[in-house]
Amino acid sequence: MGAEKKGTEEIEYKTSLLPPDEQAIALAARLLQQDEVIGLPTETVYGLAANALSSKAAKKIFTAKGRPQDNPLIAHISRMEMLPMVAAQVTREVMLLADAFWPGPLTIVLPRTEEVAPEVSAGLATVGVRMPAHPVARAVIQAAGFPLAAPSANRSGSPSPTTAQHVLQDMKGKIPVILDGGACQVGVESTVLSMVQEPVILRPGYVTAEEIARVLGRQVHTAGAVTRPLEQQEAPQSPGMKYRHYAPEAEVYIVDGKLEDFTAYLQSRKGENIYALCFAGEEMKMPVPCVSYGKEEDSASQAAELFAALRRLDELGAKVVYARMPSKEGVGLAVYNRLLRAAAFRVVK
Ligand code: TXA
Ligand code: MG
Repeated sequence: MGAEKKGTEEIEYKTSLLPPDEQAIALAARLLQQDEVIGLPTETVYGLAANALSSKAAKKIFTAKGRPQDNPLIAHISRMEMLPMVAAQVTREVMLLADAFWPGPLTIVLPRTEEVAPEVSAGLATVGVRMPAHPVARAVIQAAGFPLAAPSANRSGSPSPTTAQHVLQDMKGKIPVILDGGACQVGVESTVLSMVQEPVILRPGYVTAEEIARVLGRQVHTAGAVTRPLEQQEAPQSPGMKYRHYAPEAEVYIVDGKLEDFTAYLQSRKGENIYALCFAGEEMKMPVPCVSYGKEEDSASQAAELFAALRRLDELGAKVVYARMPSKEGVGLAVYNRLLRAAAFRVVK
């Protein structure tokens, strides 16, 4: 963990990967209290966490990730008593949502308090808040004693990390500690729901619009930019919509068609470093080398495996990847949203 000064600002850390026992959690809390950044597991993806109430700490997250300054971070809390530290206004509807979905993969965007470091909100008057379900994430927040700002622990633009090894690949030398909690169960990031005005989903996730609508007893819209690129003059409802996301080195294309169409298309495209991103059980039918991402009829399994599959394709040296089209129903919409961005919106009919 010894850190060496490199130039004036950037520090080269000796990054430790630790099992999340009591000792490691205490160490993580100490580091966080000293405004350091650590890697930690959540049920969705791994996070790059630091004190959400400290500008110095929050700035270090942006540096480690190479994240654009105008893209805000989510504040993570471990108990409801922490909510007023970050949210200035908690309505009855917000309490209904918290009761129904917290701890869990739902981020609620709310008016923020003055206590939240301005960097966390990237200058906005709002803050995204979530209470994660992962016991390690909650234990670390609890031990630190303050809310943690935590974006996904990948380098900005690359696929989100769903294992501690992925975090190490991206963050080695940039942070002192990564807590290894194994593979993330959900595998795609939380649903981001704005409750600042009418409820609107800014990023789909494991919690669906239908589930939220049922709890609120009213309609919940989903931002258009979830399933298409931003238009030229369109102001993004969430800064994250502007940026390139989840992209592996390889050029990815989604192929919209049945399995037979997919394999026929691949036959015509066979070549060096051409790969298929298929569903589990289809491997034997692929005319090119392939990696699978979950079962066709099981969106949750696709969510759990997609990011690891994209990283695997890069390790294999894939140059072009043709991907099977996921269902857009339920959790499938989150899978489609991530894959569409990984593919830079390239869809072949
Ligand atoms: O599951 C998750 O949410 C993970 C884990 C670590 O909790 N975190 C995560 O953070 O995915 P990040 O920073 O990779 O994505 C946060 C997204 C971005 O698209 C950002 O623009 C949006 O949430 N966001 C955050 N605060 C916002 C705000 N105040 N208003 C609008 N969008 C916001
Ligand atoms: Mg991210």
